[in-house]
Amino acid sequence: MAEFRKVAQISDLGPGKIKATQVGSEYVAVTQVDGKVYAFDDTCPHAACSMAEGEIDGAVIMCVCHGREYNVTDGKPVNPPFGDPMKLYPAKVEGDDVLVEM
Ligand code: FES
Repeated sequence: MAEFRKVAQISDLGPGKIKATQVGSEYVAVTQVDGKVYAFDDTCPHAACSMAEGEIDGAVIMCVCHGREYNVTDGKPVNPPFGDPMKLYPAKVEGDDVLVEM
């Protein structure tokens, strides 16, 4: 059964910040774009590197391993060779807590 789990505090997510956390057997990363929180699988769809180790510019995150870029608002790759999208999770903020539905 899916439930919202606390993965970060909103104060962890300043500009350009990505925070990754293990929730059960999954790794989830969160970031903030234009005041909205987005959550995604920390495992890159290309070859399983940590997306949180990459850099984010606006809504576009770049994986450090091979430079593939994804839009964190919809999970889609933004340039060729287009591959699988990132897996996104519903996220919300309650007080200072960032919650992700797992
Ligand atoms: S593992 Fe992320 S681009 Fe290859």
